[in-house]
Amino acid sequence: PAKTPAYRIGFSQCSTSGPWREAMLNGINRELSFHPEVQLRTTDAHDNSDLQQQQIRKLVQGGLDLLIVSPYEAGPVTPAVEEAYAQGIPVLLLDRRTASQRYTAYVGGDNLEVGQTAARYGARLLGRPQGEVVEILGTPGSSATSERHQGFAEGLKVFPGLRVVAQVNGNWQEKTLKPALLAALRAHPNVALIFAHNDAMGRGAYEVCQQLRLAGKVRIIGVDGLVGKGEGIDLVQRGILDASILYSPGGEDAMRTALKILNKQPYDKENTLGTIVIDSTNVLTLQQQTDKMASQQHDIERQQGLLQRLRATYASQQTILYGLLTT
Ligand code: FRU
Repeated sequence: PAKTPAYRIGFSQCSTSGPWREAMLNGINRELSFHPEVQLRTTDAHDNSDLQQQQIRKLVQGGLDLLIVSPYEAGPVTPAVEEAYAQGIPVLLLDRRTASQRYTAYVGGDNLEVGQTAARYGARLLGRPQGEVVEILGTPGSSATSERHQGFAEGLKVFPGLRVVAQVNGNWQEKTLKPALLAALRAHPNVALIFAHNDAMGRGAYEVCQQLRLAGKVRIIGVDGLVGKGEGIDLVQRGILDASILYSPGGEDAMRTALKILNKQPYDKENTLGTIVIDSTNVLTLQQQTDKMASQQHDIERQQGLLQRLRATYASQQTILYGLLTT
């Protein structure tokens, strides 16, 4: 009979599609492979706050020892999260926040810092801090968007020569931003810098620039810095993005904090994951390091497979032995 799990963790994701969310889930599963006592139930809200609230309430009804949430939009998802918290269920916010202070811990990057870093780095990138700027935003109600925006605006204050001439809502997606950006760049053909709230939108921005024969003239900064073809590190290496501000998905960190909470060990309420600027000066080193990590991870998985096969052999031999002894 299957052993009943010691801990039931519910994970309400705003969406599970896209490489960044996949990396987050991989991180969670990697950490979980050390904790067979944990049962994880994941839900996918498909970028819909109403659905996410329903899913959270259902997870809670099913019985939970801890809830992890990455809210699509801060405000609209807050009531269901507060209800869970009020019932005594520890709540861990991952990457995005609700509009409330009623949660147990936050794990994720500092999005204010991400925005500030983009402004500071962008000013340096231009040589002299002067020129027109376009900001491409994520989903309006999500905390990552408002914090990145706020940080960027604050960071630009010290560079009065840098003027934001257009804000484009990209909804975190490459395809959503294209028509709006096309219009913005047609109206402002002298734009010198684009800050895209993630690399996917930065990649889309580059394509729009290409279409308008502006590629190479406009500097583009993205966020995420993921490994993989067509992702941040690769885009910087190919000169499509001038820089990507690293924003770690933090799956492992989230699970480690969740286990501390469940095991009544000391933990921090705010767990900020560090960021760095990935640009032409460090991208090769980073690429080599991440390749190395990937091959080590591959080795670990091979060893786990081997262990599992050994365990299976051992179990079947035990059965034979038991059979021999009892006949
Ligand atoms: C993925 C994503 C990332 C971004 C993060 C912000 O869903 O859009 O690209 O950095 O969410 O919450």
